[in-house]
Amino acid sequence: MAFEFLKANIEQQKARARYRARQCAAEQCGREVTINNKQYLNFSSNDYLGLNHHSEINKALQEGADRFGTCASGSSLITGYSYAHQALENDICDWLNKPKCLLFASGFSANTAMMQALGNKDSHLYLDKLSHASLIDGALASDAKVKRFLHNDTEQLSRLLNKSQTKTAIKEINNIIVSEGVFSMDGDKANVIELATIAKQYHAMLYLDDAHSIGVVGEKGEGSSANADIDVVMATFGKALATSGAFVACDEALADYLINFSRHYIYSTAISPALAWATKKSIELAQKERWRRIKIQELSLLLTSKLSDKVKLIQSASSIHAIVIGDETSTLDVCQKLRDKGIWLTAIRPPTVPTNSSRLRVTITASHKDKDINYLAKCINEVVR
Ligand SMILES: Cc1ncc(COP(=O)(O)O)c(C=O)c1O
Repeated sequence: MAFEFLKANIEQQKARARYRARQCAAEQCGREVTINNKQYLNFSSNDYLGLNHHSEINKALQEGADRFGTCASGSSLITGYSYAHQALENDICDWLNKPKCLLFASGFSANTAMMQALGNKDSHLYLDKLSHASLIDGALASDAKVKRFLHNDTEQLSRLLNKSQTKTAIKEINNIIVSEGVFSMDGDKANVIELATIAKQYHAMLYLDDAHSIGVVGEKGEGSSANADIDVVMATFGKALATSGAFVACDEALADYLINFSRHYIYSTAISPALAWATKKSIELAQKERWRRIKIQELSLLLTSKLSDKVKLIQSASSIHAIVIGDETSTLDVCQKLRDKGIWLTAIRPPTVPTNSSRLRVTITASHKDKDINYLAKCINEVVR
């Protein structure tokens, strides 16, 4: 019968303990979430800086709606590009010290757009093995040759580039190195200084997805750009910046190319101008309220110090702390036990992470308190064996 795969694939997911269902949150902030009339301590939120519900951002959203409207009413190349978008782009250029910036509807769309735009038939895309699904999908849908290097293995990356150099004159190939600044499921950082050096050596372009670094890394929360010269930076507004949408910061030539050739950019309604105006405010707060970044670091150290030796924590220098449990069923079991104790942690299972590395992905935000972390560590120590 036609479309039998719909049910069959769902049954298979269930049998493998990989079935996913949404949970409707009645209320949530970085620290707490209410689901099915029960309040939990929330350790699954990407509101890293605790800016969601900030009164100044809400006020800017209202002001943006009043001045520019809730909807752009067109794509950026028709009439959708407004003063609110331009002002936000300018702030991002100043923040990251980049000549140009373009806004996209989401990080997923931005990454896909960029891989397709940069990946022409004379391009080689070198992706870190743990790159986000949107980078992989975009790369595989492009005309480029796609190569994956082992996670954070810059030696293997150099070897791959070197091998391709011996086959073809390197300047004839468009080499693009793609990595995340902070990796979404492990929370560890890329060595961006080394990546930038390798990029220079092989005349490659360095593309960084800073979804989990923006706001969190750098003196002013500018992300990986604080540490090295990066050719193209993509970051989403939907995590530390507490709004929605994404940006790509790059040089003039690439921005001009995207405006003319990126189908995602050309054929999509520009982001809500009200939201762009609100994002401008959240970037201002992220830059000046350094205490939020310091708090994340302090609470992260507290968590590490309180977890018992039997808990397998991946080393991290970000808001994300991954505790690898192993198989799907055991991970779901640990999550349920934590839920019974009033802690909300979503189990991260394959295909999001490799087989047998299902995990708890703990996110620490600036709105958590010491007592929350102490309680979390105590509960994890009790339920993880
Ligand atoms: C590393 C990374 N890149 C891109 C995205 C996509 O961003 P957005 O949620 O804005 O589509 C995510 C979000 O899940 C992410 O973790």
